[in-house]
Amino acid sequence: MAELVVALDFKDADSALSMARTLRGTAPWMKVGLELFTAEGPKMVSGLKELGFKVFLDLKFFDIPNTVQGAVRSAVRLGADMVNIHALGGERMARAAMEGCAEGVAPGQTPPLVLAVTMLTSMAAGDLPVESAPDPSEMALDLAVKAKQYGLNGVVCSGLEVERIKAACGSSFACLTPGIRPASAEAGDQRRVVTPERAVRNGSDFLVVGRPITKAERPEEAARAIIEEMSRAR
Ligand code: C5P
Repeated sequence: MAELVVALDFKDADSALSMARTLRGTAPWMKVGLELFTAEGPKMVSGLKELGFKVFLDLKFFDIPNTVQGAVRSAVRLGADMVNIHALGGERMARAAMEGCAEGVAPGQTPPLVLAVTMLTSMAAGDLPVESAPDPSEMALDLAVKAKQYGLNGVVCSGLEVERIKAACGSSFACLTPGIRPASAEAGDQRRVVTPERAVRNGSDFLVVGRPITKAERPEEAARAIIEEMSRAR
């Protein structure tokens, strides 16, 4: 059953926690990303956990293996339920991330899911700043197959790629899809977008939605409408 993850892209803890309280009992997951974590730090993870949410710490680690290993270990010690790295970091970085995860887990703690970002959903063909770049969806599939081989728990990808990734990597390999836009919503900076219904039909396990909920006049209603659309698709 697919789960909704709300992206708390806010500039401070007060605005983020106030949005989280509004969505309590509606969405099970909150995502802390670069803007909020850089401004407010680890207390965002503990604050959201205290409110009863599962927390996805979306810091997209991409560095040398030793640094990523330590970063994942620290993220796990904060109590994050899901963390991510970039698939483009390759095998040694991915395996170091999994080691960091194992080192950070306390006795009795459920290890978080460690996902690999394939291609950002804001990137379409032609956006990769390299000559003769491959098609983003093909590249996402290749990176997902590699991430699975390296022992990661799943990937961050567009809803457009989920079906092929599940076919290649198996149904238990998690797919988390940002770039979700209800039919009536603005795409904004996102490019490879799908509706909540399509993402669920394609087999996505987690749908990340930010602005269509957090910028809505009534965020709780917007979240409920998305959850209803997700259950209709099942
Ligand atoms: O507001 P919107 O629904 O576009 O938010 C999507 C969220 O998912 C943002 O927080 C963004 O950083 C994140 N994300 C993404 N594409 C990825 C990975 C994460 O859009 N590949």
